[in-house]
Amino acid sequence: MKNRLICQCYNIYTKDIEEEIKNGTGTYKDLVDKTRIGIMCSACCRDTENVFNTLKEQYEKHK
Ligand code: FES
Repeated sequence: MKNRLICQCYNIYTKDIEEEIKNGTGTYKDLVDKTRIGIMCSACCRDTENVFNTLKEQYEKHK
């Protein structure tokens, strides 16, 4: 997945989400708890969840 900014409020990129997954973040809720992504303006929530699920699936396939 090409690296791009997902959450403008917290300056979180797809690469950051990928890192979180590698470091054991197992669910979208865990990601929100750890990074606070999506809790400021909420504009990125849907995108974040889609990106998280896609990256998580890819990670599971290649681990
Ligand atoms: S863009 Fe992610 S909380 Fe605002």
